[in-house]
Amino acid sequence: MSLFIKRIFLGSILIFLIIQVIQPVRNIDYGQVPSSDISKVYKIPKKVQSILRTSCYDCHSNGTSYPTYAYIQPFSYFVENHIKEGKKELNFSEWGLYSQRKQSNKLEAVENQIKQGRMPLSSYLYLHHDAKLSEEKIKEVVDWIESIHKEDR
Ligand code: HEC
Repeated sequence: MSLFIKRIFLGSILIFLIIQVIQPVRNIDYGQVPSSDISKVYKIPKKVQSILRTSCYDCHSNGTSYPTYAYIQPFSYFVENHIKEGKKELNFSEWGLYSQRKQSNKLEAVENQIKQGRMPLSSYLYLHHDAKLSEEKIKEVVDWIESIHKEDR
């Protein structure tokens, strides 16, 4: 290897090591389910609750279960960004703090997103196969949302 290539190689390793020091504050709730959690606001069928927890809570709640790669930069940065952006749009842990109107709009958005296969994000599914929604799971969630909307009327 030429000296030049060696230097680039060693330089890259050094940069990789240095960026590991930058670690974000984690989105962890130690398994606590707050009283504002969506499961405390509605009677959610166990199946639907488990689907939301498995497929959505990592980015849309105050309790992410972090995979190992999320501790390694630069992945850590992208993971944290998804969580931040995801929670801003929709936070199942803070559902009870939303107005009725917002809850209703967000339920509709959930229905639309999953029907169109836009959530969970495909980059996430790549490493979380268990979070993929089958037709059957989508129907479970959609049926539940429609039952809530009927109650409202
Ligand atoms: C890997 C992180 C991640 C996962 C997992 C995930 N989302 Fe998202 N979600 C995001 C991000 C980031 C946004 C905001 C940017 C965008 O819309 O793409 C978002 C936006 C949304 C929105 C749009 C909100 C609005 O009002 O328009 C809805 C609804 C949503 N997600 C529902 C879900 C549901 C339901 C699941 C589970 C089936 C899920 N998401 C799983 C990251 C995620």
